[in-house]
Amino acid sequence: MRILITGGPTHEYLDPVRCLTNPSTGRMGMELARAAAQRGHETVLVTGPTAFPDPKGVRVIRVVSALDMDRSVRREFPRCDAMIGSAAVSDYRPETAARSKIKKGPATMTLRLVKNPDVLGGCGARKKGQVLVGFALETDCGLENAADKMRRKRLDLIVLNSPESFGADRIGPTFLTPDGKREALPKMTKAQLSRRIVRFIERLR
Ligand code: C5P
Repeated sequence: MRILITGGPTHEYLDPVRCLTNPSTGRMGMELARAAAQRGHETVLVTGPTAFPDPKGVRVIRVVSALDMDRSVRREFPRCDAMIGSAAVSDYRPETAARSKIKKGPATMTLRLVKNPDVLGGCGARKKGQVLVGFALETDCGLENAADKMRRKRLDLIVLNSPESFGADRIGPTFLTPDGKREALPKMTKAQLSRRIVRFIERLR
């Protein structure tokens, strides 16, 4: 199969030296890409800024912002059999980015944000038989929110995990599928979780 994976955070610049982002390290995307390539799949990883090197046998496209990621995914998605969205994409970006560094000024300042495209949701809307897998990271009402996301984004599997999984090597995820099944998995490494997700996709195809 040809498998497309997104990973990492996005950086949404407000001037040349400052950005909005989150603590994602890009490890989940790297492990997913490694697992897919090891199973012999043609693998493309679109990742936001990360310190990890390219995994072997994977075509890696490095991007910065949500808009960049969306552009690359739109290009790659139609040729893919499956897509796994593990990127922690910024929901909003600054409406404008200043060309020069913003100088220190008054005691308060307001930053106006505009909504970013939903990269995975867009794939859900355009999918033609592709298997789609997403992640949900919630602080409250995890199961309800994850199930709702799975429906909205037309996913075949959503992996619910907790905010502690940012950068962690071991997580205890829950798999939710459209048939209403919920499977709480024991703590495992992101490498083990990645192999399970790839096997899930293989079974569905
Ligand atoms: O809506 P929420 O961000 O919580 O959904 C999480 C899932 O959607 C993750 O799989 C994430 O990679 C994906 N996502 C995306 N583009 C966004 C927001 C989320 O691909 N702008």
